[in-house]
Amino acid sequence: MAGSGCLLYFSILSSLLLFSATITEASQCAISGLPFVRNISELPQDNHGRGGLSHITIAGSALHGMKEVEVWLQTFAPGSRTPIHRHSCEEVFVVLKGTGTLYLASSSHVKYPGTPQEFSIFPNSTFHIPVNDAHQIVNSNEREDLQMLAVISRPPVKVFIYDDWFVPHTAAKLKFPYWDEQCLQSPQKDEL
Ligand SMILES: *[C@@H]1O[C@H](CO)[C@@H](O)[C@H](O)[C@H]1NC(C)=O
Ligand SMILES: *[C@@H]1O[C@H](CO)[C@@H](O)[C@H](O)[C@H]1NC(C)=O
Repeated sequence: MAGSGCLLYFSILSSLLLFSATITEASQCAISGLPFVRNISELPQDNHGRGGLSHITIAGSALHGMKEVEVWLQTFAPGSRTPIHRHSCEEVFVVLKGTGTLYLASSSHVKYPGTPQEFSIFPNSTFHIPVNDAHQIVNSNEREDLQMLAVISRPPVKVFIYDDWFVPHTAAKLKFPYWDEQCLQSPQKDEL
C-alpha cells in the first residue's frame, strides 16, 4: 500500500517537473515582447557549440520579437575566438572586461577578405564593425575572460564563415540561424 502511494506521488511529481520544463522552454521564446525589467544573471546562457563561449541574448529577434536591433552579452574564455565571419548588418560592441584582439579586413577587396588589420581590445573600448567587413574577435589573454555587449542591426543575423582570410567571399559558408534557433518561427530569406 505504502509502495503504490509512493509510486503515485512519484509520477505526479515527475509530470509536474515535465510540465514546468515545458513552460520554461516556451517562456524563453517570449515573442510577444520583452518583459520591462529583467535580471541578466537569470537569463539563459549557451555556448551554441562554440568552445569557450557564453552567449546570452539580452534582446533578440527570434527570442523576443525585436524588429530593428538585437543585443548580446558574450564572454570568451581565455584563448577562445569567433570564427572569421561577415554579416550584412551593423555591429557595435562595448568591452566590459578583459583584453584581446580584433582582426578586421575591409570589404573593399572584392575577391576575399585578405590580410586583416589588428586592433587591441581593452576594457571600456568600443568598436563598430562596418557592414560586410570580415572580422574575428580573439581572447588572446591566457588568464582572463573577455566580456562584451554587442548590438547588431537587422536581426536575426546571417553569418558567413571563412576558414581563413583568403577564402573567396563566394565560398564563405552561411550559418543561419546562428542563435536562438529554438524560437525561430519563419526564417527570413537571405538578402546578400
Ligand atoms: C539577480 O539574479 C542573481 C542570480 O539569481 C541574484 O543573485 C541577484 O540577487 C538578483 N538581483 C536582484 C536585484 O534581484
Ligand atoms: C571603465 O569605465 C568605468 C566608468 O567610467 C570606470 O569606472 C572604470 O574604471 C573603467 N575601467 C577601466 C579598466 O578603464
